Parts: sequence; C-alpha cells; structure tokens
Amino acid sequence: MRAIHITKSGGPEVLKLKETPKPKLEKNQVLIKVKAAGINRSDIVTRKNMNTYGNGSTETIIPGLEVSGVITEIGDTVSDKKIGDEVCALVSSGGYAEYVAVESSHCLPIPAGISLTDAAAIPETVFTVWFNVFHLANLQPEEKLLIHGGTSGIGTMGLQMAKALGSQIYTTAGSDKKIDFLNKMNLGKAINYKKEAFEEVFKDEKIDVILDMVGGDYTQKNLEILNKKGRLININGMNSMEATINLRSIMSKNLVLTGSFLKPQSADVKTQIAKEVEKNIWPLFKSEKIHPVIYKKFPLEDAAEAHKLMESSEHIGKILLIMD
Ligand SMILES: NC(=O)c1ccc[n+]([C@@H]2O[C@H](COP(=O)([O-])OP(=O)(O)OC[C@H]3O[C@@H](n4cnc5c(N)ncnc54)[C@H](OP(=O)(O)O)[C@@H]3O)[C@@H](O)[C@H]2O)c1
Repeated sequence: MRAIHITKSGGPEVLKLKETPKPKLEKNQVLIKVKAAGINRSDIVTRKNMNTYGNGSTETIIPGLEVSGVITEIGDTVSDKKIGDEVCALVSSGGYAEYVAVESSHCLPIPAGISLTDAAAIPETVFTVWFNVFHLANLQPEEKLLIHGGTSGIGTMGLQMAKALGSQIYTTAGSDKKIDFLNKMNLGKAINYKKEAFEEVFKDEKIDVILDMVGGDYTQKNLEILNKKGRLININGMNSMEATINLRSIMSKNLVLTGSFLKPQSADVKTQIAKEVEKNIWPLFKSEKIHPVIYKKFPLEDAAEAHKLMESSEHIGKILLIMD
C-alpha cells in the first residue's frame, strides 16, 4: 500500500510517500481501506519531534489520527462489524495510508447525511470535545462555553456541538475573515483577539466553561472571566505550556482547572467515548444541527502541502487527505 512516512524530525519536506506493507490485524481489530484521513495539529508536533519518539530507533512513523473508509478484513473476535461496513474511526497513528488497522470499538458508522470522505473530519474533533467539554467539564445546557481558536477543527465542531446541546457559546479567532465566517455560521459571540482583549469583552459574561489550546498568559485571564464553579480545560498550550496563575482566582470562585491528551487515553476510555458520542452526538448530524467544516482536500501524496497550509493557520475548519 502507499503511505506517508515521517522520515525524520523537520519541516513538511520530511513527509515522504513510500510503498509499505499492509498492517497486520490483531484479533479485536478491523482493517479499513481508507477513503480519507484528517490532518490534525498534533501530526505537526509529531513530525517536528519524531526523533524524540521511539528511543532513537530509525523506524519511520506513519502519522494520522482519524480516517474514514470501508472495512475489508475483520479480526477473529470482532462481532460488531462486518466486511463492507463504511466507518469513520479514531486511530492512534497510521491514518495517512491506504489501509489502517484499528480496534473495532473505535469505529463508528458514517453519520447520516455526511459523505464517506467528509466523515474523516469527524472523529478527532468530536471525541476530543466530548471527552473534555462534556465529560471532564460536564457542560450543562444553558451554561456558557468559550472556545478559543473558534475556526480550528476543534473550534468549528465544538461550538456547533455545544450550541446544538443548548449552551450559549463564545469564541475567539485571529482575523476578521475568520470572525465573518463564525458570524455567518451563527456560532455565538466571536471576537478578533488581535483587535480586542477577550478578557475585557467577556469579563461580565460569567462564562462557565472555557476550552483553551493557547495556554501561557491566557490561563490567568481565563480564570478571571470564569463564573463561580467554572471549569478551565486545556487541550494544548500553543503559546506556552507554562503559566503563572493567582491561586486566589481559583479559591475565591471554586474553580476547576483540568485538561487532557486524547491520544494516550486507554483503549477502554476511547471505546467509552465512542459509545457516548454515537448516542449523544450522531443524532445531531442526522438532524443537520452539526456538520464538519472542510477547508481543503489534498491527494495523499501532497501531505507536505497540507501540513504547510495547517501551519500557516489560514484555514477554517478541517484539512483532509484523499486516497484516490
Ligand atoms: N489534547 C488533545 O487531546 C487534543 C486533541 C485535538 C486537538 N488538540 C489541540 O487543539 C488545538 C486545535 O487543533 P486542530 O487540529 O483543530 O488545529 P487547527 O485547525 O490547526 O487550529 C489551530 C488554530 O489555533 C489558533 N492559534 C492560536 N494560537 C496559536 C499559536 N500560538 N500558534 C498557532 N495557532 C494558534 C490558530 O487560529 P487563529 O488564527 O484564530 O489564531 C489556528 O488556526 C491544537 O492546539 C491541538 O493540538 C488537542
């Protein structure tokens, strides 16, 4: 099969297309003939830090955390899927390839109304938002949610999910073009953080939950605008992983500061998230309350171009690789 490999740490040019053996199936896995794969920010971090993975081994890595496609083989103990099923799936790595093996319980049916290709844009964002915003922070209908980076893959999906489930939504983005997009999609109160200070604009809103990927000096500002019993969840620190905070902000309002990485969660946790999103989020696709926002699709061999686009931060929503 053809697959994109990270050959060493570096820029997009280290992504190389190679002929590669098909993955071998474990008994609880299915083999997916991939139709499309989603690109995620984390793939770029993996590419830049490849040499720190694998204890100095010279093996290359096939990146890719989410795919859509058709099941072509099933493992000995798989009973919930069959050959020919169309699915989208969360994978631990290996998505930028024509075939990938994945635990059958991490595959979900293609949501009603979504094409097989576009479904590749769904798993990483929906799983991450569900686990952090709805599980860890326990966002309730009527509560107020702020998501920084509103036009990211995470932001475009998370804002739609929270709105559809009855929350009031707020967001930030880095250009007027991005704010126009968020306003056209009616995705809550959106501000250009390069022109206005979010901690000033939102200071009287009493936000209940904040999903943040910026970190650094956003952290104290986030704590200051949270409502009593508010929850701050970090899923990255793109400006800085380090923050100075005033503990008084937490103590005076009974705040909770939490966060997570999805990739290293156990297979059981991912299975549980899959069950919960199929029950709670999949119907929202069917009723057309949410849909993946796709910015651009590239052929597999142009993965380096797709990474360049993501690193430019010009995109709005998701970037996909298409296999044929
Ligand atoms: N912890 C987890 O399990 C988990 C899972 C999935 C994603 N994530 C994280 O969630 C974030 C969104 O992921 P994604 O795949 O949706 O990414 P994405 O589409 O590339 O979006 C990232 C956006 O963040 C904004 N941004 C803010 N500060 C930035 C900075 N210092 N450098 C670069 N961009 C900055 C940019 O938009 P503006 O123009 O508005 O600044 C950029 O478009 C990423 O940080 C990713 O690592 C974490």
